[in-house]
Amino acid sequence: MEKLEINGGKKISGTIIVSGSKNATLPILASTILTNNSVTIKNIPIVKDVLTMVNLLSTLGSSIKFIKKKKKIIISNKKKLKTFAPYNLLKTMRAGVLVLGPLLAKYGVAKVSLPGGCAIGSRPVNLHLEALKKMGADIRIKDGYIIASAKKGLNGCLINFPKISVGATENILIAACFSNGKTKLRNCAIEPEVNDLIIFLKSMGCKISKVGNRGLNVIGIKKLKSTTHRVIFDRIEAGTYMIAAALTKGKLKIENINPRILSTEIKVLKKMKVEITEKKNHIIVNRLKKLQNIDIETKPYPGFPTDLQAQIMVLMTNAVGVSKIRENIFENRFMHVSELRRMGARIETRGNEAKIFGEIKLNGAQVMATDLRASVCLVLAGLVASNTTIVNRIYHLDRGYENIESILSNCGAKIKRLK
Ligand code: UD1
Repeated sequence: MEKLEINGGKKISGTIIVSGSKNATLPILASTILTNNSVTIKNIPIVKDVLTMVNLLSTLGSSIKFIKKKKKIIISNKKKLKTFAPYNLLKTMRAGVLVLGPLLAKYGVAKVSLPGGCAIGSRPVNLHLEALKKMGADIRIKDGYIIASAKKGLNGCLINFPKISVGATENILIAACFSNGKTKLRNCAIEPEVNDLIIFLKSMGCKISKVGNRGLNVIGIKKLKSTTHRVIFDRIEAGTYMIAAALTKGKLKIENINPRILSTEIKVLKKMKVEITEKKNHIIVNRLKKLQNIDIETKPYPGFPTDLQAQIMVLMTNAVGVSKIRENIFENRFMHVSELRRMGARIETRGNEAKIFGEIKLNGAQVMATDLRASVCLVLAGLVASNTTIVNRIYHLDRGYENIESILSNCGAKIKRLK
C-alpha cells in the first residue's frame, strides 16, 4: 500500500494554483444524466472520486471523453441509460447516490446501492429519500439497494428540508429540474458547490430561481441544452494550503481562487495572526507572528467548513494558549485526534468538542489515515514535525487532493510517495 514520507521542518513557500472543486464536479457530472445533448466541463480535478463518478456514468451508458491533460470532460447521452448503480461503485464514494435523483426523474425508475459506511459517521440518506417520496416516488430498500420508481415522473411540490444537507439539496434540485411542475425547496444548503451546480443547470436551460437565503424554486423542463461549464475552485484545497503556509511560517501565493468565497477561513486565520493579502483572483498567506489561539465551530456554509476542521486542529497545536473546536456536522469526525496525539499533540475530546493545547512541537511518527481530510491533516502535521513522518493508507488522500506531494515539494517540502 502506498504511503507518504515527510521530513518536517521546511517552509511551504511559493505559488500554488488551486484545482477545480471535487465537491462541485461530482453533482455536476451526476446531473448530466438529465441531458441528451453534449456538455463540456472544464477545470476538472484529476482525483480518485471524480474517476469513480466517471466510471459510474460510463457503467450507466454515458459516452464520456475525458481529456485529462486539459482537465476537460465531454459527455453525451444519446442512448437511453441503464438505471442500475451497483454497490462496487458506491462503496468507496458516497456521492454516487447523486445519480438517484436524475435517474428517477428522467427514467421513472432507479436501483441505486445505498452508499457504503464511512469513518466520520453514519451518514444516512433519509433526507434524499423522504424528499423523493414527497415528489411521488415509491421507494423500497432491499438487499442494500434503494429501489425507486415514479412511473409518470416526479411531481413538483414543497420540500422543506428538516436539516441542511449538501447532498440532499443537490440530488433533489437535479431531480426537480426534470419533474412535472414547480418544486419549492426550502432550508437548502448554500455551499459554493451547490451554487456552481445551479449555474451549470441554468446554462442547460433549467429554470431555477433563488428565494431568500436558503430557498430555490424550480420549474421542471423535459429537454436540456448543450453547454460548456468551468468548475469553481476547490475551497477546501485552498484552505488546506493556506494552513500549510501558516503552519510552516511560509509565504505562499494561492492562485485561481475567489477570496470572497474563502472569507470565513480568511477571517479565522487572520484572528490567529496569520497575515493574508487578498486580491481579485489570489491571496498571499504570510506567517510572521506567533499564532494566537481561537475557538471555532463547524457549520454549513457560510460557517467554518467541517472539511477543514482536521487541518485547523493541527494549526492550533502551534498557537499560543488553548483553542477549542466544536464539530457540529459529523458525529465522529475526531478520528485524527488519536494519530495527532501519537505525534505529541495534547488534545482532549468530549463528545463533539475538542480542546487543543498549543505551542506543542510535534514529533514524526508512523500514522494511519482514516478519511480524506484526516489524511491531509496528518500530512500537515508531518510538515512541521521533527524527524520523519510516514502517513499510511493514503488512498483516502488520493480521493480528493490532486498531486499533493508534487505541489508541496515544489513549495519546499521534503515529501515523497513510497510504493
Ligand atoms: C458534503 C461534502 C462533504 C462535506 C459535507 C458537509 C460532497 C461530495 N461531500 O457531503 O465533503 O463534509 O457535505 O459539508 O459534496 N444527513 C442526514 N440525512 C441525509 C443526509 C445528510 O441526516 O439524508 C446529515 C449528515 O449525517 C450530516 C449532515 O446531514 O450530519 C450534513 O451532511 P451533508 O451535507 O448531506 O453531507 P454530504 O452531502 O454527504
